[in-house]
Formats: sequence, C-alpha cells, structure tokens
Amino acid sequence: MQSGVQVTDNAGQQSTAGRRYCIGIVGAGKLGCYLGAHLCQDSALEVKFFGRETTALELAAHGLSVTSCTHHTYFAQPIAFYSSLNSLIECDLVLLTVKATALVPMLAQLKHFLRPDVPLVALQDGVGVGEMLSHDLSNPVIRALATFSVLKIRPGQFHRATAGALFWQRNDFAVVNYVSSTFSRLQLAVQLCDDMASAEFGKLLLDLNQALNAISGLPLPQQLADRDYRAVLALAMREWLAVCHRAGVKPQSYSRVNNSLLPWILRLPTLIFCRLCQQMLPTDASAHSPMWHDLKANKRTEIMFLNDVVVRMGQQYQVPTPVNGLLVEQIKWLESGQATSMTGADILRRLAH
Ligand SMILES: NC(=O)c1ccc[n+]([C@@H]2O[C@H](COP(=O)([O-])OP(=O)(O)OC[C@H]3O[C@@H](n4cnc5c(N)ncnc54)[C@H](OP(=O)(O)O)[C@@H]3O)[C@@H](O)[C@H]2O)c1
Repeated sequence: MQSGVQVTDNAGQQSTAGRRYCIGIVGAGKLGCYLGAHLCQDSALEVKFFGRETTALELAAHGLSVTSCTHHTYFAQPIAFYSSLNSLIECDLVLLTVKATALVPMLAQLKHFLRPDVPLVALQDGVGVGEMLSHDLSNPVIRALATFSVLKIRPGQFHRATAGALFWQRNDFAVVNYVSSTFSRLQLAVQLCDDMASAEFGKLLLDLNQALNAISGLPLPQQLADRDYRAVLALAMREWLAVCHRAGVKPQSYSRVNNSLLPWILRLPTLIFCRLCQQMLPTDASAHSPMWHDLKANKRTEIMFLNDVVVRMGQQYQVPTPVNGLLVEQIKWLESGQATSMTGADILRRLAH
C-alpha cells in the first residue's frame, strides 16, 4: 500500500526542489517514524517509509508528527508509505529500524530488493547486530545507536521523551553523511564515532536494566527506587564490565558518571541515590522499559542482543555471569507466557543460593 508520494516541509509548503537522495526507512515504528519525520523536512530528500499496513493506515488518517522534550515539532503529510519492500530498489540509503528480533526474516527481503551498493544504517540496540547483518548481506553496514527514547503518544504522533543523541559510525558514504548532517541541522544531535564497539558496549551497560524492569513489572521510577533491584542491577553491570575488561573494550560512558562508578552509585541508600541521580531518572512516573512493553504485547524481546550477550561473551572470556544468566532465564519464562514476577529481594536470595 502506498499512501502518498509527496513530502511537505515544515512550513507546510510542498517541496519542488530536485530530489538528491531517496531514503528508505525500513521498519517504520517508533524510532523509524521519528527519524523519518525529520528527514521529510529536507526537500532534497525523498523519504519512503516501509512497515506494517496498520501503520500505513494510521499515518494516512492522522499524518505523522513528532515532538520532543527539546520542544521542536515536525509534521509530515502526506508521506510515502509502503507495506511491501518492492520500492526499496529505488533507495540510495536504508535506515533499518525493525527490532533486532525481526532481522532474520527481514534479511531475505533485503537481499532481494536492495541494490548491493546501497549502504544500510542499523539502528537496533544491542551487541552483534552489525556482525550479523554483514555476515549475510554484501551491502555496507553502518551502525548507529539512539540514546534517547521515542514513544507513541497518540495515533501518528511520536514523542522523544528523553535527551540524548544519535551515535553514528564514522564513514565515507556521501549519502549517509548527508543524512546525519540533516539530523544535526534539525536539532537531533549526532555524534560521529570511530569506535562503535565501545559505543555498543556502553549502551548495553545501561540497557541491562530493561530485563530487570520487565521482571519487576514496576514502572521505572518505582523499580529504581527499590534498593534490592538496584543491587541486582549493580551486580549485572559488574559482570558486563568484567567481560568488557577481558575483551579489551572500554565501554563508552553516556553520563557524567564514569561507568565503573555506576554499580557503586546504585548500591547507595535510596534517599542519597535519588538525590544524586535525580536528573538521570525518568520523569514519567508510569514509564516502563521497551522489554516490558514487548512482553505486554506478547512479542519476543531483544534479550538475545542484551543480557544474553553478557552470558555468551562471559563463557567466551571465562567470566562467570550468574546474574545476567538468571535475568535471561526469567525473561524467557515470561516470553513463553509463564507469569513470573520476582522482587529484588527474591532475586538476591536466588543468587545467594
Ligand atoms: N523506540 C526507541 O525509543 C528506541 C531507542 C533506541 C533504540 N531503539 C531500537 O530501535 C529498534 C526499533 O525500535 P522501535 O521502538 O522503533 O520498535 P517498533 O516501534 O516495534 O518498530 C519496528 C516496526 O517495524 C515493523 N516490522 C517488523 N518487521 C517488519 C517487516 N518484515 N516488514 C515491515 N515492518 C516490519 C514492526 O511491526 P510489528 O510490531 O508488527 O512486528 C514495527 O512496526 C529496536 O532495536 C530498538 O532497540 C529504539
């Protein structure tokens, strides 16, 4: 289904400028729609969204608008939305924004429809995504990580709820660099990275809480106000930091606090922790991790690319990882439909045995 082919710029004027690049957003969900709406503001780009028919219908009915905690708003309508990948052949660049769990079935389609010289930017969280794609595709694969979170707040309306930037692998592709500079121009900070392993490993350190939050079933502020859950998270982080050390990778720090201090800070008494980390805690009292949302929607989670990486790399580098192992086990139970919820104290007791 195609719901339109013209792009309207921010001022509401139809663009007449010649199109330089055709950009495909493959897996237009929260992150894809958010990024795509930015690119629609540049009349030199033709943006094609690829995703589910339900999303196509939603955007055709409501348009696509994005807002952000930094107070900018972009609107794009009509947009070119396709529920089949045939038109991918016209794209000069693909931003791949499906979940990591959707990559395997997506690979065959990408191979079929994507021109082999077209670069592909993989925006999934987690470790191992770039390697997996490069193994199966001949296209150049560039890694990027979003360190902010995007929520859908109403049909067709996506909101960036946290500050953060796009960490973007440095590369020599003119089209990729044009797109990253477009984001920068539109108040979406882009940080070019030479060491994507460091960027991925540092992001994983923060994402270890996704599983714990899902297991707790609690909103993030409530879960992080629980000292036992924080103690578990601190132990999970220690395991990953030990693996990183053995692997010779220094994980990038995304806060003002040095990564090695995070486990120590998490173990502080709650009152001190909350005072010290007020700015780092989610402001939305009802916010949950993406993994909690996946489980709620009966979807597979990205656990294989998150805590399970700690376990597998722990085996490779002979670092024991019982905490992440237990979190993976619990998430797999939840994925299989077993109702299990463990308090932080339950988890600490299980680990003590
Ligand atoms: N959202 C964020 O704030 C954020 C921040 C940082 C990183 N990320 C990363 O970005 C990735 C995407 O996250 P998201 O939150 O944007 O996920 P999402 O909202 O679920 O978006 C992905 C979209 O792709 C669709 N899709 C999956 N397979 C497809 C296929 N074969 N053909 C067409 N459409 C397909 C999904 O449909 P179905 O749901 O029907 O499968 C969904 O609509 C994840 O790896 C996440 O870790 C997200």
